[in-house]
Amino acid sequence: MEMVRLPPPDELTMPVGEAMFTQRAIRRLDPNKPVSDEHLKIMLDAASKAPSGGNTQPARYLVIRDRGKIAEFGKLYHEAWWAKRYDAYGWTSQADIPAGSVYKWPALLADEMVNAPVVLLCYSEASAVAESSTFPGVQNLLLAARALGIGSVLTTLHPTVMERVNAMFGVPDDMVFHCCIPLGYPRGNFGPTSRIPTSQTTYWDGWGTAPPWQ
Ligand SMILES: Cc1cc2nc3c(=O)[nH]c(=O)nc-3n(C[C@H](O)[C@H](O)[C@H](O)COP(=O)(O)O)c2cc1C
Repeated sequence: MEMVRLPPPDELTMPVGEAMFTQRAIRRLDPNKPVSDEHLKIMLDAASKAPSGGNTQPARYLVIRDRGKIAEFGKLYHEAWWAKRYDAYGWTSQADIPAGSVYKWPALLADEMVNAPVVLLCYSEASAVAESSTFPGVQNLLLAARALGIGSVLTTLHPTVMERVNAMFGVPDDMVFHCCIPLGYPRGNFGPTSRIPTSQTTYWDGWGTAPPWQ
């Protein structure tokens, strides 16, 4: 395949620290504010710059902008999301979700997907490094989106809908599905994120030994 050497795009001026530390799941997207082709290209170019095993670059992206197709896909996403919750907890409706559950917002996304201005489906060619060589690019894409002020959330599907999703978009049988990312300008703001401190997730020179910070 042809290879290109792209310079950094002028639009990506947000410091990398700010992008990383303010990137978060945005599930309420403005259906009336489209994402431009130029910005989609910047995000996909950023994804293409990520590492992959042997520089094999197996990731392939399907950008869905057609409103009718997003509406149809949104119904399948809704079905997939509830299928995942049924498998894990036996839940079938909002009423089953316990108060204060972390699934409150993801359940909202299951309803909101039909309104996303863009849905990106991320696949790869099958290989031993398919997944590990696809997600570095996905993270680059999420950071580039953040730097452009575009909201995103990484999400997945469920085997029960995969055949129908692939048939809807003519995806070849040998493609491996990885994730689904709705994109659009946020209704609301990026807000802060909370994470486990690295002192509790990192070991130093041996498993179980704390790093030199609290
Ligand atoms: C593998 C994976 C699957 C995810 N699945 C969903 C999902 O089904 N629905 C959803 O709304 N968010 C999903 N997310 C987003 C996570 O909920 C989100 O990244 C996490 O809660 C941190 O959110 P924050 O960055 O806003 O703090 C998923 C993220 C990953 C990495």
